[in-house]
Amino acid sequence: MCGIIGYCGQKPAVPIVLEALKRLEYRGYDSAGIASLYDGRLLIRKDAGKIDEVIQKHDLASLPGIVAIGHTRWATHGAVTQFNAHPHSDCGGRVAVVHNGIIENNQQLRQELTKIGHKFTSETDTEIIPHLLEDELKNGCSLEQAVLNIAPRLEGSYAFLGISLDDPGKIIGTRKTIPLIVGTDAPDYYVSSDALAFSQYTNRVMSLEDNEVVVLTQKGIEFFDAQGNKLVKRARKLDHSWAESHKGGYQHFMLKEIMEQAQALSQIVHQDEKRFTNIALDILRARQVIITACGTSRYAALVGRYLFSRVGKKFCDVVMASEFGYFADSVDKSTVVIAVSQSGETADVVEGVKAARDAGAQVISIVNRPNSILADLSHQVIYLNCGSEIAVAATKSFLSQLAIFYLLSFAMVNSFDEAAARLTDLSGDITKVLNWNKSELIKLSQKLKDKSAFYYIARGINFAIASEGALKLKEISYIHAEGMPAGELKHGTLALIELGTPVVVICPADYTFLETLSNAMETKSRGAYIIGVSDKESDIYDSWIRIPEVDELLYPMVAVVPLQLLAYYLAINRGCDPDKPRNLAKSVTVK
Ligand code: AGP
Repeated sequence: MCGIIGYCGQKPAVPIVLEALKRLEYRGYDSAGIASLYDGRLLIRKDAGKIDEVIQKHDLASLPGIVAIGHTRWATHGAVTQFNAHPHSDCGGRVAVVHNGIIENNQQLRQELTKIGHKFTSETDTEIIPHLLEDELKNGCSLEQAVLNIAPRLEGSYAFLGISLDDPGKIIGTRKTIPLIVGTDAPDYYVSSDALAFSQYTNRVMSLEDNEVVVLTQKGIEFFDAQGNKLVKRARKLDHSWAESHKGGYQHFMLKEIMEQAQALSQIVHQDEKRFTNIALDILRARQVIITACGTSRYAALVGRYLFSRVGKKFCDVVMASEFGYFADSVDKSTVVIAVSQSGETADVVEGVKAARDAGAQVISIVNRPNSILADLSHQVIYLNCGSEIAVAATKSFLSQLAIFYLLSFAMVNSFDEAAARLTDLSGDITKVLNWNKSELIKLSQKLKDKSAFYYIARGINFAIASEGALKLKEISYIHAEGMPAGELKHGTLALIELGTPVVVICPADYTFLETLSNAMETKSRGAYIIGVSDKESDIYDSWIRIPEVDELLYPMVAVVPLQLLAYYLAINRGCDPDKPRNLAKSVTVK
């Protein structure tokens, strides 16, 4: 949530910062702003609205400067207004700060600062940072020393960048829990929440650890630890294929990412088999296994639970990451915690993993983003290798997570190769399902675009796909949707079915087929419009989304794809932007 960027170098800074903000927009897009140092002045322009709107309205591109910082916001403290947009400044307008995260003790610090005469102009937690820096700079500190002095007073999680007229020509940055990455291509230097922001200029990157401080000037970069000791850091190479962020001719990132799934599947099998099998054995041997995740990643975990049980005969539990802390008492040395997260940044997951580590558990994470905070915290990491996912709605990362669980469960019974071969074949089925259904899904979305609620039902391993289909629909089209085990309908939700209510029935021709169909019939008898997602046709369906016949444990992977596409086309037909749904952000770095 929120993207921050800073540039210092030989080129005009503002165009680089603006371009970076567009690349960071997936992290938040309710407000944007920039600050630059030019000719002895600190220039700040910001407003509520999407980045392109703010750029146009305030003619941001005309701002001069060779040192600049920028911000794209997802509001936490304070409404979406121009005052609350970043950068924030001090009383004298001499310091500018952009921040990602939450300063938890901001109320207390605000009161203390107000008492000694500081004037605040926003409702944000961020604004205390430039005011704290102001006092340090007045005492003659350098900007980096000012940051080192104030950091111990800040509680919470944060990454922030600052510039100041009192120590011009430099950008300082620091972080705690929230990522901050530096890019270097002397004499040009970049610092951001995500290397994607500057990956078109350099692939040489360095990460900051908690409480470290970075200083960027035209002469170079310096790193300090929390005590102010200089650190030596080596740049590592960024994988450019991961950092690709163009739409590749598609109208939206979401559509591109849906279409990339067949390829993602063929790539995912390239894992280190021995290491993978060892991880699977660790899971098998553990006294208890808990999988923790949020949102779509949690639905992948639910499918994983079925796979572990069906294939590896290993029972495990799935705990929502935001609730994980409440179960921490049951975690011990003989527990394996599997954390699943596309971004590797989700605050609830990171928090849960820290608690699990403290309790002595072994942590295995399944992540997409390389070098993420979650990866750093884990004893073992499995990467999805599906490339950057920009659309807020997760698609290809979900399919890749399912594939990882499939591989892990087969590795438990020493059959990794067999699973890898099946997944490679399945990539052709993913292409088929897209080709078979595209035009039917477009027609269906036109027909159903004004419906106020959708219900998704399935049984067994496909139940989580019902939930995932519903999540996709609600997050990008704003239609109410619920996914549930088909057998649960009659315990309450059936009361909501009326004439024309769309019910999406995921009923592959497997062990769940007949029972699911009979639950679908119960809704049809009450007027529901049935959309059957199956390899087997039935008279019950008002509309049939055909999926290929595959091994029964692979049905979730072929069934979810048309549901993603249905949500996408419904969003388009309702005039919604599927890449940037309202109120949401790709990386949820607040609890
Ligand atoms: C998915 O479409 C959602 N945007 C959201 O539920 C997401 O899956 C969740 O926030 C978890 O993100 P993560 O996988 O990066 O941890």
